[in-house]
Amino acid sequence: MKNFFGFKDNKKNKIEINSDIKNIPQHIAIIMDGNGRWAKRKGLPRTLGHKSGVEALRGIVKECSKLKVKYLTVYAFSTENWKRPAQEVNVLMKLLVEYLKREIEELNSEGVVVKHIGDISKLPEICQQELIKAYEKTKPNKGLVLNLALNYGGRDEIIYALKKIGKEIQNGSLTCNSINEKLISDNLYTAKIPDPDIIIRTGGEQRLSNFLLWQCAYSEFWYTNVKWPDFKKEHLHQAIYSYQNRDRRYGGIK
Ligand code: FPP
Repeated sequence: MKNFFGFKDNKKNKIEINSDIKNIPQHIAIIMDGNGRWAKRKGLPRTLGHKSGVEALRGIVKECSKLKVKYLTVYAFSTENWKRPAQEVNVLMKLLVEYLKREIEELNSEGVVVKHIGDISKLPEICQQELIKAYEKTKPNKGLVLNLALNYGGRDEIIYALKKIGKEIQNGSLTCNSINEKLISDNLYTAKIPDPDIIIRTGGEQRLSNFLLWQCAYSEFWYTNVKWPDFKKEHLHQAIYSYQNRDRRYGGIK
């Protein structure tokens, strides 16, 4: 691979960070897959895979903050994840509350803004309260925006946006002719957040699974077989290094 921008390939397939980091993606989105299989491989219950997944998330948030990534969106619970056994869903909700309670002071001191996307009104009350509390506390911060996708689905988000736009057309404040890409983007859960530059998926699958369907139009994709609990900053560096070597033409020519 070409060796330019902020990362140096030291020939042992290890990426070292130079102090002068350029072309860091502004928005990284991650499908944190493989927790269940990671646990199964170790003979552990799936829920312990999720618990280890939270630790992996801690490390990646820290690293993104350090690298001055502006937005990190993580797929923590999809609109389809309700199909899982109630016990697993409960553990995931509990882990979310624990994560927010335990990490909020440190995240705040690092300047992280903790936001969420998705219909959180369907989450247990305690999750909603902690998410709102976390956002209220951290919203003045200027650092990394950690965007937790919860009860999030790309199709659900597009329906949500279309309903909002439809209401405005109904009440006469908009006309059909006002519908354009910007209007749709501005009505998504991710309004005001730039589209992801790169979408990372761990766990070996090569699909989007209803994640950021509108926003991914020109995102770069990076897949790895590494299961989410094993995903370390070195893997993040590999993804960024790969991103930095892509030729983004947005349908044009150079
Ligand atoms: C997919 O792995 C992962 C999830 C559905 C949940 C992701 C959640 C976490 C990483 C931890 C919780 C996050 C927060 C913000 C506290 P999977 O269970 O589908 O794995 P599998 O494909 O191996 O079964």
